[in-house]
Amino acid sequence: MSDWTLDYHGFEPSQEGVREALCTLGNGYFATRGAACEADASEIHYPGTYLAGGYDRLSTEIAGRVIENEDLVNLPNWLCLTFRPEGGDWFNPMAVELLDFHQHLDIETGVLKRQLFFRDHQGRETTLVTQRLVHMVHPHLGAIEWRIRPENWSGRVSICSALDGRVINAGVERYRQLASTHLVPLSSDSPSDDTIRLQVETRQSRLHIAQAARTQIRVAGQDVEGERQIIEESGYIAQETVLDLEAGKEAAIEKVVALHTSRDRAISEPGHAASQSVARAGTFAELYESHRRVWSQLWQRCDVELDGGGRAQMILRLHIFHLLQTVSPHSADLDVGVPARGLHGEAYRGHIFWDELFIFPFLNYRIPEITRALLHYRYRRLNEARHSAREAGYRGAMYPWQSGSDGREESQQVHLNPRSGHWIADNSALQRHVNAAVAYNVWRYYEVTEDREFLAYYGAEMLFEIARFWASAASWNAQRKRYDIRGVMGPDEFHDRYPDAEAPGLDNNTYTNVMAAWVLGRAVNVYDLIGERRRRELGVALGLSNHEVSDWLTIRQKLFVPFHGNGIPSQFEGYEHLEEFDWAGYRERYGDIHRLDRLLEAEGDTVNRYKASKQADVLMLFYLFSAEELGDIFAQLGYPFSGELIPRTIDYYQQRTSHGSTLSRVVTSWVLARSDRRQAWDSFLQVLQSDIEDSQHGTTQEGIHLGAMAGSVDLIQRGHTGLEVRDGMLRLNPCLPEALSGLRLQLCYRGDWLKLDLGEERLTLTAPEGWAGPERIMFRDEIYPFGEGQRLELNYSSEERCWLPNRE
Ligand code: BGC
Repeated sequence: MSDWTLDYHGFEPSQEGVREALCTLGNGYFATRGAACEADASEIHYPGTYLAGGYDRLSTEIAGRVIENEDLVNLPNWLCLTFRPEGGDWFNPMAVELLDFHQHLDIETGVLKRQLFFRDHQGRETTLVTQRLVHMVHPHLGAIEWRIRPENWSGRVSICSALDGRVINAGVERYRQLASTHLVPLSSDSPSDDTIRLQVETRQSRLHIAQAARTQIRVAGQDVEGERQIIEESGYIAQETVLDLEAGKEAAIEKVVALHTSRDRAISEPGHAASQSVARAGTFAELYESHRRVWSQLWQRCDVELDGGGRAQMILRLHIFHLLQTVSPHSADLDVGVPARGLHGEAYRGHIFWDELFIFPFLNYRIPEITRALLHYRYRRLNEARHSAREAGYRGAMYPWQSGSDGREESQQVHLNPRSGHWIADNSALQRHVNAAVAYNVWRYYEVTEDREFLAYYGAEMLFEIARFWASAASWNAQRKRYDIRGVMGPDEFHDRYPDAEAPGLDNNTYTNVMAAWVLGRAVNVYDLIGERRRRELGVALGLSNHEVSDWLTIRQKLFVPFHGNGIPSQFEGYEHLEEFDWAGYRERYGDIHRLDRLLEAEGDTVNRYKASKQADVLMLFYLFSAEELGDIFAQLGYPFSGELIPRTIDYYQQRTSHGSTLSRVVTSWVLARSDRRQAWDSFLQVLQSDIEDSQHGTTQEGIHLGAMAGSVDLIQRGHTGLEVRDGMLRLNPCLPEALSGLRLQLCYRGDWLKLDLGEERLTLTAPEGWAGPERIMFRDEIYPFGEGQRLELNYSSEERCWLPNRE
């Protein structure tokens, strides 16, 4: 087994959905699932292609009301390629005897390969070897190569290469009652002998999409024309070629496809751009060569090497691979966000959530240009967020829980419980904490990059408007002399209201309130940081006064945080009155209780009654802040906080969490890294298994879980190295997982690259020649000088528990 390949031996129809998601190829501009070229959408296969930011909205009448949904649109299927011997059927692996089947995804070079040897009903034996890539250099190109060798037969064959725009969005079973036909055919033609072209438009967003496919056939190195004919129907065009094949002689078929849309820059018109791109594209071999070279550069920046990681190494690379396929250096020039389920399927409709929190840290230290672009996606939607805040009676900007094309709230109003068949009101849009995530991401990006221009011109404006929102969401409670934030949902989606309440929403969610306090404090700090001129400019543009800013400080010190029991921060006010849940009983009865909200609803009960969470909520605070930072925030709020509280709080909520979101295990592994290294590693392995083992039983085929994927890499990158930038100082506080004997990675800190080699008891840092980074770094609680060309060797012990390290 290689650390660079995802291998599948044997064809397993029931596994296809997961394999297709995990073998998706993409380049940040578009991605295509790893479905076989000859496969149409069926119960087994789902060949989806998605454009970053390619959305469309449709309305459906459901449960007595008309609801509108915005979806990431499944684009025309460009993979279509198949063949049949004269008098035989079109190739279908399920209708032949498969003598050998091997599929592998080459993670290092970004190529999906398949090797088949089969016998058909007539006894004809054939070898088929296929390769596919989605080009990382020219983001509009995809390419396929098929090599067919008749082993014991000769005869005429037809080869069919098509572009199929008759597809719909049907990748998620739960959404099947919703309107799903997004594409309207525009035209099809054949701009040159070997090229076909298809143009379609999305129904509502009027996104004009053009694909052109050039198909060429070679036998024994010679181009073969064959007898060609074009087959067309509405939304579909195919080129069929008939030629003679000889036993033992291989035919190579190459299909190169270009995809352009009306959102592209620097084009005249998508149809023209597509046929031009494909006419200018090199052969498969040439495309492969440039593609491979760029992937190799990406790996130089992004790889994380584990010593003794076993299969974990391959999975970790698979995660980095899918992250870079969803957002790549090409994203830097696009107006796109990072969808929670990648460009790998239709779950959550390609929407953007708070999952950025888990994704950006990896990018910040590797390709910060991508984070900058993704933050711009938020900045461009600031006006929409301002509008949402106003509509809801707040000030400032209120970002949506789910975001799509224009930044309006895209959360669904009702969702289907597949267990009960009931459509249930969906209140998840009350997760206002997404606003804190946007602000937090702005600040962390700045800390790592020191990108002053971004902070002053874009980041500050977002931060101030979000701070304003929190200030207006906080209401003074004269009785307790504190500010409350009422009527929200925390990250734990199991709780959307008090058990007997009519109206949704909970009061004083600890995570939300502490994050709001942090945002308010950070906004004041940034107000000072951006300098007098920019302060004045923003003051005029936003009508922001010193007085308003000083109010933020007051509110920040007086936000309420509920506690219960022995000083444990409560998930929300009144949490202690909920009933304890019978975890053991339900586990025994159902086995898998990840989604016990659905189980309970189907039983006529509600999870709102219990101390049972879907995912980390309070514990998110320990994930986002070092113990020391959190200590400061609590001190500013006037609440006690001690190192001893951390393990107790972790333990308390760990016992009450079902991990119904893959993000939850990332947080668990992170918070345990310092107290229980073995359990932390077990949780890390569970994070790694989220998609490769489809640990949530059926969700991976609908799209990967990008937050968990990126989070797993960050668990190594920052979690186990204790990497942190605070007060302008790069800090390290390592704690190697017990299962590893070492790890190596490179980090980009404020424009300079740094090598980090972590062994069992020693950390080695190397600054390259020309290092212009900071002259000092902090290791645990000591400051060390660090200069150009220097190699710093630092001894440590992973056994030491250090909750509150890094004290200056
Ligand atoms: C989780 C959210 C997450 C979303 C998208 C949900 O299941 O509860 O926290 O943002 O998935 O990944």
